Amino acid sequence: MRTLIRGGTVATAAGIFPADVLIEGETIARVGAGLGAEAQRVFDARGKYVLPGGIDVHTHLDMPLGEIVTADDFESGTVAAAHGGTTTVVDFAVQTPGQPLREAWETWMRKAEGKAAVDYGFHLIVTDLPPARLVEMDVLVAEGVTTFKLFMAYPGRLMVDDATIYRALRRAAGNGGLVLMHAENGGVIEELVRRALAEGKTAPRWHAATRPAAAEAEAVHRSIALAELAGAPVYIVHVSCAEAVEEIAAARGRGARVLGETCPQYLFLSEERYDAPGFEGAKYVMSPPLRPRPGQERLWRALAAGELQVVATDHCPFRMRDQKSLGRGDFSRIPGGAPGIETRMSLLLDGGVRAGRISLERFVEVTATAPARIFGLHPRKGVIAPGSDADLVVWDLDREHTWSAATHHMRVDYNPYEGMVVRGVPELVLSRGSPVVEGGRFVGRPGAGRFLKRAPRSD
Ligand code: URP
Ligand code: ZN
Ligand code: ZN
Repeated sequence: MRTLIRGGTVATAAGIFPADVLIEGETIARVGAGLGAEAQRVFDARGKYVLPGGIDVHTHLDMPLGEIVTADDFESGTVAAAHGGTTTVVDFAVQTPGQPLREAWETWMRKAEGKAAVDYGFHLIVTDLPPARLVEMDVLVAEGVTTFKLFMAYPGRLMVDDATIYRALRRAAGNGGLVLMHAENGGVIEELVRRALAEGKTAPRWHAATRPAAAEAEAVHRSIALAELAGAPVYIVHVSCAEAVEEIAAARGRGARVLGETCPQYLFLSEERYDAPGFEGAKYVMSPPLRPRPGQERLWRALAAGELQVVATDHCPFRMRDQKSLGRGDFSRIPGGAPGIETRMSLLLDGGVRAGRISLERFVEVTATAPARIFGLHPRKGVIAPGSDADLVVWDLDREHTWSAATHHMRVDYNPYEGMVVRGVPELVLSRGSPVVEGGRFVGRPGAGRFLKRAPRSD
């Protein structure tokens, strides 16, 4: 099947230019002016922008947390992603302590199989990595699961010690893997939480008060030091505050190999949300927490300047009705995380590009091209070039949309951006040449998404 997207303005990380895009089957065949080729399917993109499909490298679909599980599975989550202009997700498989790493990955493969509507890959959350298990990291890298997340927070559940972090970094230095770090000082936070609860401070706002920015910055600093000791690069997930950015910027300034990701919630929402009446603040209980508004400008500057490389979502949805509500009377029992897989691209187009904080090219870079490069998907994904997968989004950048739980496609009963009006709507979303969303309607097929075997680091 030949498909032509005619008359649009193509935006890539390298430039913006008028061009047609010709697709042969699943891949892009040509990009250029006046491609009058015979095509079975023609989309008129006049007045619209043609961008690479978004790549969200931080999602938690169908993820158990104690007795509950995140509200989106691989079907509802990837359908929502597609509605928002995202055509690739990289989700986190979780190793239960003692479990072989490969077994954890295979569990998540089964969760996605037959359900995912767009292409997907996996990172592995490692909770237990004795020296004898290190070889399992090599096996997974060879299978295309090249990235390993370690937690410096959540003692007794996910947190690993510095020796484990160092071991993982050393191994990744040699096998082409990359360690992703949840950087918060879990020991200090546990102490602060214990004290707050003992003083009767149980409301959602105490979640933020007990996870200070200094606890994040300290862990970022330590991550970088351990990575330098191990001779490995490190990628810091969900950077939330100016203090953490300063650590990353200083380290990069002296040549350290550290990469940083932030998320829309840290760019658009701030700590006052925890003061919402009643239990409403639980909607924003996530780790790290929302921060004071002034620090957001530092995050934006870091994104614009390349001190941070990626905007992902940390999509980790829990319903208010029967999931977040488990933490009424004890903020430490509120399941942490918020939905965002659908809202990322339009929020960033509106509040980033339209607001003049980042260029459209930089938008493409941080939402698609850099994630593809860092996570071993380039040049198959994240670019508009001959030979690349035809994962494309035709955006109407003039059309308005109001975010609301009543109309979003995420299977969760609230939207953190409820009532927020954005300009920028994906009119047409193609996954490997096939329409998945057209005119706001899902026209794809759950199960059509394929597992992406990602390449190891080549640096
Ligand atoms: O609170 C959050 N962010 N939950 C998701 C898990 C994580 O740490 O990324
Ligand atoms: Zn995390
Ligand atoms: Zn996460």
